[in-house]
Amino acid sequence: MSDVFERPIDASTRYCAVFGFPVRHSASPAMHNAGLAALKLNWRYLAFPVPPEQLREALAGAAAMRFVGVNLTVPHKLLALELMDLLDDSARAWGAVNTVRFEGLRADGSWQPIGQWPDPEEPVRVRMHGFNTDADALVRALEEDLAWTPRNRSVLLLGAGGAGRVAALKLAASGVKRLYLVNRTADKARAVAEEIHARHPGCEVVLDYPDGPVDLLLNATSLGLRPDDPLPLDTRRFPLERAGAVYDMIYRPAETPLLLAARCAGRPTANGMGMLLHQGTRALEIWSGQPAPVPVMRRALELHLHES
Ligand code: ATR
Repeated sequence: MSDVFERPIDASTRYCAVFGFPVRHSASPAMHNAGLAALKLNWRYLAFPVPPEQLREALAGAAAMRFVGVNLTVPHKLLALELMDLLDDSARAWGAVNTVRFEGLRADGSWQPIGQWPDPEEPVRVRMHGFNTDADALVRALEEDLAWTPRNRSVLLLGAGGAGRVAALKLAASGVKRLYLVNRTADKARAVAEEIHARHPGCEVVLDYPDGPVDLLLNATSLGLRPDDPLPLDTRRFPLERAGAVYDMIYRPAETPLLLAARCAGRPTANGMGMLLHQGTRALEIWSGQPAPVPVMRRALELHLHES
C-alpha cells in the first residue's frame, strides 16, 4: 500500500462513490481505494445507499461537493440516463449509465473533468457526463479469462434482463454470428432479438436452445446467486458438454452451480469477477485520465471477495 492511502483524509481529499440500493455488499470500494492508492491520488471511494427516488438529489449533492465521479449500480443504471447533462456514445449505445464523470466549466469556456481540475480555480458550474463501462468489460473479461473472442462465434445467452440485454447487444456489435437467446419471460427475449435485428443485422438471433454445440454459454440471469437456486438452463435441452466455454456473470459465489456443473463436464469456466474488475478499471481511467493499475485492483478485488 502506498503512503497516500495511509495518509489521513485532509481538506484537499476528493471523493468518488458507488450509489446503489442496496449497496452494502459492493466490492467497488475495496477495488477502487487500492487503485487510488497505487496511483497516489488523494481521493477516497465511498459507498452510499441511495433510494431510486432520491437519485437525482444524490447526484446533485455529489456535484455540489465536487465529487470526481460516481458509479451506479442496481437499480439506477436506466434511471440515470435522463439525469445526465451529456451521454457518452457508450451510454447511448447500451442505454444505461454505470459511470458518471463530473466536469467543471472553466472561465475560458472549456470543460475539464473534476478529477483533473487545476487548483485553486473553482468551476463556474459542474455538469454530469454519463458513460457505460459494463459492455466493454464483458468482452475484455471473456478474452482475458477464457481466451475467447466474439467474431464469427456462436453463443447461448441465458437471460434478457438488464445485464442480458447489454450482453446480447455488445456480443452482436462485436461480431457474434449466431446468438441463441433463452429467457424465462419470452417477451423480453423477443424484444432484445428485435433490437439486435434492427441494430446489428449481421447477427442471427434464435429464440431457443441450439441443437448442436456453441462456442460459449453465458449466464446473465440471477440464478446462482442463492445456494438453493436451480441451474439457469435445461440441461436436457442443452447438455453442458456442448459448450466450448462457460461464463457466469455472477461472481459471488465464486463457483455457481452452473460453473461447478460445467467444470465437472470438463468445460473451461470463468465467473463474473473479470467483468466487475474491468468496469471499475475503465471508470477509474475515465475519472483520472490515467491508465488504471489493473493488477493492484484485481488483487484487492480477489482479497475482498475471498474475505466477504
Ligand atoms: P439484471 O439487471 O441483473 O439483469 P434483471 O433485469 O432483473 O436483473 O434480470 C434478471 C434476469 O434473471 C432475467 O433474465 C430474469 O428472467 P425474467 O426476464 O423472466 O424475469 C432472470 N431470472 C430471475 N429469476 C429467475 C428464475 N427464478 N428463473 C428463471 N430466470 C430468472
